[in-house]
Amino acid sequence: MTSPRTRRAARFGGAALAAALLTATQATASLAAPGNPGEPRYSAGAPSLGDPYFPDQGNGGFDVRHYDVTFAYDPATKIMDATTVITAVATQDLDRFDLDFRGPEITSLKVGKHPAAFRRDGQELVITPRPKLKAGETFTVTVAYKGTPPVITDPDESIEGWVPTDDGVFVPGEPQGAPAWLPSNDSPKDKATFTFRATVPEGVTVVGNGRLTSKTTTNAKTTFVWESAEPMATYLATVTLGNFVVAETTTPGGVPVYTAVDPRLVTQSAGAVARIPDILEYFSSVFGPYPFDTAGAIIDRAPDVGYALESQTKPIFSSAPSVGTMAHELAHQWYGDSVSLGRWSDIWLNEGFATYATWLWTEHSGGATAQQTFNSSSNYGRAATSSFWQIVTADPGPEDMFGNVPYNRGAMTLHALRGKIGDTAFFRLVKDWATEHRYGTVSTADFVSAAEKVSGLDLKAFFDVWLHQKGKPTSW
Ligand code: TRP
Ligand code: ZN
Repeated sequence: MTSPRTRRAARFGGAALAAALLTATQATASLAAPGNPGEPRYSAGAPSLGDPYFPDQGNGGFDVRHYDVTFAYDPATKIMDATTVITAVATQDLDRFDLDFRGPEITSLKVGKHPAAFRRDGQELVITPRPKLKAGETFTVTVAYKGTPPVITDPDESIEGWVPTDDGVFVPGEPQGAPAWLPSNDSPKDKATFTFRATVPEGVTVVGNGRLTSKTTTNAKTTFVWESAEPMATYLATVTLGNFVVAETTTPGGVPVYTAVDPRLVTQSAGAVARIPDILEYFSSVFGPYPFDTAGAIIDRAPDVGYALESQTKPIFSSAPSVGTMAHELAHQWYGDSVSLGRWSDIWLNEGFATYATWLWTEHSGGATAQQTFNSSSNYGRAATSSFWQIVTADPGPEDMFGNVPYNRGAMTLHALRGKIGDTAFFRLVKDWATEHRYGTVSTADFVSAAEKVSGLDLKAFFDVWLHQKGKPTSW
């Protein structure tokens, strides 16, 4: 589910766009047959979508609609035995295309009914479909693989992918963990729906995104089927598994809430878990209806991970969260999950929004006001000489994309904007942003135009100071 090619290309920065176009053009020039008018002109899909932070991520030439992932996993052996069926639509005539995959050995690969030649080159899984694929054709890729998926280390040294715990696996995917266990088009620009069918030893619980549609036990093995009906970015997919205490409730607005908590963390997590319905209700009142048909949380013990992630419909926590962290991950369901970034340098659109939403929740629930939080020593109260002010909000770089700046300066940007355009325009802006771009892909430039439109003001200088310049803003 990608946006049209031209809209996608228009969002790249100059250098990345040039690189992406060059690749596509070279491929076309060298590989296309000198066809007759109306005949297919086959070429290779682009091996990248050109993100400067993660240049191997994503692939061109097709658009994934659905991932159907069937696997067995045993925490004792750490062996995954998986078959993933990808349904996609070709967006050009293809004689070759790539998926992203860093998982274990592939035992068979088919395109449609036909075994296809493939080779692996870093995270690229290069596939040669025969017969070739015509533009507009819907096709399936069936990949069978078996072994232990890897832990992936990020540019900031944090870990993700397939992270074994003492009773299962913790599965975070942002920004590049999904290909550890899922052959995929690993870009937030290509959202799709998902089905997970996971078989584990009886007693182990598998928690995926979306809705649990079946759970059956035979011969001491349990199969869980999880369905995500709304489009989802690959980095938001999870199939976290282990020993969990499961509880189900609903929000006042009727959204089912499924929580899975490591038995050792139930007491410590109780406060944050109990507030989920209230938090979702409050955010629905400020940001518009909750965007998905299910909600919940997965609270696990994964001490080496040390962060939480907004996995779609089921944020995952590597330890017992505070109410504030719970609010942050739930706010991401609107900002980050439903409304997605198209390139990682725009990470403030995720983290600044989730952080500001948490400031609002704190004020709403009787704590510090958003203005007090803005003024605090972790925010605007930092000295002008602090290194904090030397990172650019709207392009922090891959090492600092989950550092303080996209979170805190991002949230400060929104609070300053609210002061600049007034409460009425500001709250209309953030609600319309969530509604108009539901399940879509956005950029910083889109947000600047939306803010200018709702306020009727020229905000170029304002956003330049807050998002694109280094240094502590002093006037805006
Ligand atoms: N997006 C997560 C959050 O703010 C944090 C996160 C995801 C992260 N991946 C990470 C933090 C890698 C550090 C390293 O909720
Ligand atoms: Zn976040």
